[in-house]
Amino acid sequence: MNVLVIGNGGREHAIVAALAKSPSVDKIYCMKGNAGIAELAECVNVDYCDLKAVGDWVDAHPDVQYTVIAPDDPLALGLADELESRGHRVFGPNKKAAEIESSKAFAKALMKKYNIPTAAYEIFDDYEKALAYVEKGKFPVVLKADGLALGKGVLICETLQQAKDGLKQIMLDKAFGAAGNKVVVEEFLTGKEFTPGEEVSVLTFTDGKTIVPMIPSCDHKRALDGDKGLNTGGMGTFTPCPFYTKEIADEVMNNILLPTVRAMNAEGRTFKGVLYFGLMRTPDGMKVVEYNSRFGDPETQVVLPMLKTDLMEIFQAITDERLADVKIEWEDGACVCVVLASGGYPQSYAKGKQITIGDLDKDVFLYHAGTARENGMLKTSGGRVIGVCAKGRTVKEARAKAYANVKKISFEGMQYRTDIGIKYNAEE
Ligand code: AMP
Ligand code: GLY
Repeated sequence: MNVLVIGNGGREHAIVAALAKSPSVDKIYCMKGNAGIAELAECVNVDYCDLKAVGDWVDAHPDVQYTVIAPDDPLALGLADELESRGHRVFGPNKKAAEIESSKAFAKALMKKYNIPTAAYEIFDDYEKALAYVEKGKFPVVLKADGLALGKGVLICETLQQAKDGLKQIMLDKAFGAAGNKVVVEEFLTGKEFTPGEEVSVLTFTDGKTIVPMIPSCDHKRALDGDKGLNTGGMGTFTPCPFYTKEIADEVMNNILLPTVRAMNAEGRTFKGVLYFGLMRTPDGMKVVEYNSRFGDPETQVVLPMLKTDLMEIFQAITDERLADVKIEWEDGACVCVVLASGGYPQSYAKGKQITIGDLDKDVFLYHAGTARENGMLKTSGGRVIGVCAKGRTVKEARAKAYANVKKISFEGMQYRTDIGIKYNAEE
């Protein structure tokens, strides 16, 4: 079978690499892909947010029997619906189901209605009313633009002045465009004794009947060491998550995963695909910080390399709603991914810098994000450039291996965090 993967980041490179190992996959196309993906797939230069253009391309390629939609934007726009209406098989939720990510107001209302634990909140579409509410409330307070905002639409405000500025930025200045037409004002969650709550990303496979969690992983969203600096798409990840015990996994299954699947069914929005739960551990138990309607980036880069089961078999089973029949197995051990970013990211950065890569150790692999090949030379073409991933028996071993190999890669302005894989005592 030939498969089309939609997307062009490190996550898509990891998905393409997993599909390339499948005995049932002959050829992979990737729209648009990058220089790393191009070694495994034929890259197709079509704008994947242009639904008609993607539909026309798939119609014109009858050898493509399955399409995997990885990024949030085409899912939110309804690419799954477009391809299905043309009779194609797809992996990824339809537009109504993808709203669990594309509208935070919808996700919060869903959790409230079905008693799924999350931070208390109010929603406003009027700046004056939002301001009046914030003026009466406690600090810190969390402001979230309703729609998709490249992971940047969440503001944690310590003071009333910061909250005023934040509301203005989101609702009046429209810093995140139409995503800021509504704003969610949310209670600030903490861990024990007001320390920051520990966070875990639980990606799951679901066909709307069965939900199967993947191995838990931890992201590092801030740009700089010690969780300082601006929020980014994610600067590195590791798996497993040290605090995620069997007891917590059971609590999450019963209080969060199963109720969410049932809630989406009850709302007539059956979710089929990867449903991602961003969770925080609080003194009152695990709570949902965010839902994503897709694989996480860079979580996927540490999760999929540990998958023993054929990914294509899982995708097909989800499309056919027979996920319960598939036994999903994982390797023991750990995996760490360190993201190498362009200087200046997540703000403005230069592109077109030449990348050099030395000989990498065994069990170390690269997932490309913003890379392109120009006249045979590998160059940077985005903010997050390459994820350096390593497996080991422990997070400590994987982390040491990943960083030893980071040193073999260079490009002008290259920046990365040096503390991926140590939080939550992951090394112990
Ligand atoms: P999100 O884009 O929704 O994942 O939010 C980005 C980050 O902001 C999360 O990973 C948390 O660290 C933090 N955050 C979001 N909502 C809350 C909240 N209600 N309380 C505390 N921290 C939060
Ligand atoms: N790593 C967070 C996300 O994919 O949204």
